[in-house]
Amino acid sequence: SGSLTVGQFAEKLGRPSTDIIKKLMVLGVMATKNQDLDKDTIELLAGDYGVRVEEEVIVDEASFEDEGLEIDEKTAVLRPPVVTIMGHVDHGKTTLLDSIRHTKVTAGEAGGITQHIGAYQVVHEGKKITFLDTPGHAAFTTMRARGAEITDITVLVVAADDGVMPQTVEAIHHARAAKVPIIVAVNKIDKPNANPDHVMQELSEQGLVPEDWGGDTIFVKISAKKGIGIDDLLEMILLVAEVNEYKANPEKPARGAVIEAELDKGKGPVATLLVQNGALRIGDAIVVGNTFGRVRAMVNDLGRRVKKATPSTPVEITGLNNVPQAGDQFMVFEDEKKARQIGETRAERALITERKETTSKVSLDDLFEK
Ligand code: GTP
Ligand code: MG
Repeated sequence: SGSLTVGQFAEKLGRPSTDIIKKLMVLGVMATKNQDLDKDTIELLAGDYGVRVEEEVIVDEASFEDEGLEIDEKTAVLRPPVVTIMGHVDHGKTTLLDSIRHTKVTAGEAGGITQHIGAYQVVHEGKKITFLDTPGHAAFTTMRARGAEITDITVLVVAADDGVMPQTVEAIHHARAAKVPIIVAVNKIDKPNANPDHVMQELSEQGLVPEDWGGDTIFVKISAKKGIGIDDLLEMILLVAEVNEYKANPEKPARGAVIEAELDKGKGPVATLLVQNGALRIGDAIVVGNTFGRVRAMVNDLGRRVKKATPSTPVEITGLNNVPQAGDQFMVFEDEKKARQIGETRAERALITERKETTSKVSLDDLFEK
């Protein structure tokens, strides 16, 4: 961070690299063109050339894209799995999400009003699971298109009276592309014309072979409507989580992604964030996509105010300057100035891109009119 190579430094001074290398030799340092110079050496050399070194506030875009999501094993702890439900139209995704939330959340949290924030957490056998409440395909396509990879496990819902359909196959492709394990929930087994074996047969042809048949895909037979098999499904999710050991570093500044966002008349921009690493706190300076701000208030999926959100926790926040987009990534900065600067740079860049797009659209339209 903040370092320069001999070559880069020479370029800034408008001198040949050999000049710098010679000067370094005089100082007793044997250097090559690609060698990094530390701050003290840069200052020393600059003094020699009568140049004043001003430290730039480096708008470190690269660190925003790459850092903070990788796990530091030494201090890592287990975090809850993040689960997305996918499947063909009408196969029962919404009913399943409602059923899980209803049996686990309202039963466990008497009096808690479940708020729709695009994601929720349940506790099964003392362990948390995070469910994304956004349509599975959208979660994958928009999120992944924007660079956010937030799902750990996909539950593929297939109606036992309908079987494998085009969006079932599409869901399998999405999950495979993202290298996310699939658990199959064979739904609607309460129906008289349900044929779970047929679903298993069809999915085997897609490469999802049930464990009972010698494969390695977990199948759970459920009825989302009647609440059958829900506990089994949750248990299997926890099993997959245990095997994969999803981890995070709660001591780091928070990183994560936007689940959904909107402009609230009273509260201003409101965004549901999923914390993927680190912990998010009230007062944190944050960059979210092309906007920034300070976390003013945080509300969890039960509508309760919280001061801190740990890894895999979804929270709704206020305090942003603008409305971000689903799939945007966020990052907390210790320095509010830096957050503002990065946020403003990103907003400016987005505006320029937008203008370019509008301009080219206009000229295209003009062409067609003539
Ligand atoms: P889209 O969001 O439109 O893609 O559908 P979906 O996958 O969310 O399906 P949804 O949960 O809306 O369910 C579709 C229909 O199937 C509804 O009428 C549900 O009541 C019904 N349904 C869902 N699960 C079951 C089940 O386990 N048994 C029976 N009998 N009906 C179910
Ligand atoms: Mg639905």
